[in-house]
Amino acid sequence: MRGAGSEDRSMKATAQAPANIAFIKYWGKSDEVLRLPLNDSFSMNLSGAYTTTTVEFSASFVKDEITLLNGAFSEKEIARVVKGLDRVRERAGSKLFARVVTKNTFPKGAGSAASASGFAALTVAGFSALGIRLSEKELTIFSRLGSGSACRSIPDGFVMWGKGNLNDTSYAYSLYPSTYWDLRDILVIVDRSMKKVSTTEGHKGVQSSPFWNNRSKAIPQRIDRILIALKEKNFREFGEVIEEECLDMHHVMQTQVPPLMYWNDATKRIMNAVIAWRKKGLSVYFTIDAGPNVHLICEGQDEGRVRDALKGVSGVEEIILNKPSKGAQIISTHLF
Ligand code: DP6
Repeated sequence: MRGAGSEDRSMKATAQAPANIAFIKYWGKSDEVLRLPLNDSFSMNLSGAYTTTTVEFSASFVKDEITLLNGAFSEKEIARVVKGLDRVRERAGSKLFARVVTKNTFPKGAGSAASASGFAALTVAGFSALGIRLSEKELTIFSRLGSGSACRSIPDGFVMWGKGNLNDTSYAYSLYPSTYWDLRDILVIVDRSMKKVSTTEGHKGVQSSPFWNNRSKAIPQRIDRILIALKEKNFREFGEVIEEECLDMHHVMQTQVPPLMYWNDATKRIMNAVIAWRKKGLSVYFTIDAGPNVHLICEGQDEGRVRDALKGVSGVEEIILNKPSKGAQIISTHLF
């Protein structure tokens, strides 16, 4: 039995980690096992879409038990969480089994980055429960090994993930704190169901797209542009870059082999509505990760107008309002 060791206490910690929306997106890996990305990416943590996870280790447990409170994990997902626990145990020198209880504030698997917040929360709670203090950089690296985009859910606010080329050189860091810019991400849920192809599968096909080369050349320039826009808080330029980037990634997704079509009719209706609203003077831009749900990005002053405009669009199931958020936090620890 793995639990029979010198440790006879139960150790428990709860962490909360935000989902993040990628403005410059991670699509494609140079190393699948280490989850090293083909390009740098940049994101904002989301205040209204997050995962809360409690990890408890005890010598009395005889196996790992993983529970998702609002939903269910597949066998494959459970195996992925157990691998995450194994990495924590290995680094901490522990052989204790764990109970993991987790909850999301948003639908899992519909392109709203539940694996990002999930692995960030698991990593932070797991190490904290075992009494191991890691640097923020190390936490981003361990989170990345669970799900690439999870590394961006650890640091505060506006976060860059430098691709690196080794396990230790691929990590995320904060460029600006969450208080830096009063942006909104109005996440419009048009479909709560699980996507049919996981992002992990999808990443594999990226280089089969005839448009991948163009994308890989365009990304560094886009990053330069977005960094200047961010520094100057030039929202128009910021919005133009994120929309161009979103369309470029989806273009690659739709032309890879086999193609990945994440949008549905409501997704397209919202994208077209955003373009029409802009023509009428409403400053709002869209971005979409690997799913049909649309993130509407605007400045705080325009939130009310965007929400009002959305009322006229059919197919909206739910709206999750987000401001820029801090990264993953420990909420509580218990030793008994
Ligand atoms: C489109 O981080 O979910 O949301 O590393 O295989 O778990 P894995 O992939 P994942 O990919 C996210 C893809 C994306 C873009 C992004 O978040 O940057």
